[in-house]
Amino acid sequence: MERKGSRYVVLALTVLFLGFFTIGQAAEYDHEVQIKKISFSWKVSGDTLAVKIAAETKGWVGIGFNPSSKMKGADFILGYVKNGKVKIRDDFGKSKTSHKPDEKLGGTSDVTLIGGEEADGVTTVEFALPLKSGDKKDSELNVEGDTIVLLAYGPDRDGFTARHKFRTALKVNLATGTFSKLK
Ligand code: HEM
Repeated sequence: MERKGSRYVVLALTVLFLGFFTIGQAAEYDHEVQIKKISFSWKVSGDTLAVKIAAETKGWVGIGFNPSSKMKGADFILGYVKNGKVKIRDDFGKSKTSHKPDEKLGGTSDVTLIGGEEADGVTTVEFALPLKSGDKKDSELNVEGDTIVLLAYGPDRDGFTARHKFRTALKVNLATGTFSKLK
């Protein structure tokens, strides 16, 4: 009888453990795109987009949304990790080939840092963005439609200014995770 009881306890604990594990997994990201040495993972939760960018670099990693032409007009987030500390910035594409912090262009910083690390030559940054921040230096993200997503990373140098070592552009449906490469 006692043995039967302890078996139930073990069973109950296993179910509980698996339950927590599954919920833990579900709280991560729903979608991922990997292009060569950079990946973009995301999850839409209500009016927030949670993002993870990881790339083979010891320098910056970045994402840009909805440019009007090349880099112009894009809503960028760039991040890097120096001495274990994550630096992140909300930028705007000032011209086809340049970007500046929203705050220097009359806008606001609307990124919430979640975390990041640099390990074995790979830099990872995680952050959250409002889908509609209301800042004119951000892009309104309509998750049901097409979103142009730029992904890029810099050389092995900390800072926000070095030009990309790699960049790509995609058309993504943020709700379903379907995507196509633009170039
Ligand atoms: C960090 C400073 C940056 C500098 C100095 C820079 C500079 C440039 C320059 C000079 C070009 C035109 C030449 C070329 O095609 O390589 C370019 C194009 C491009 N950049 Fe950047 N960039 C920076 C950051 C970024 C970031 C963060 C992203 C995306 C997350 C990005 C995405 C792109 C894309 C997709 C193009 C090609 C556009 C096209 O041909 O349609 N750049 N950039």
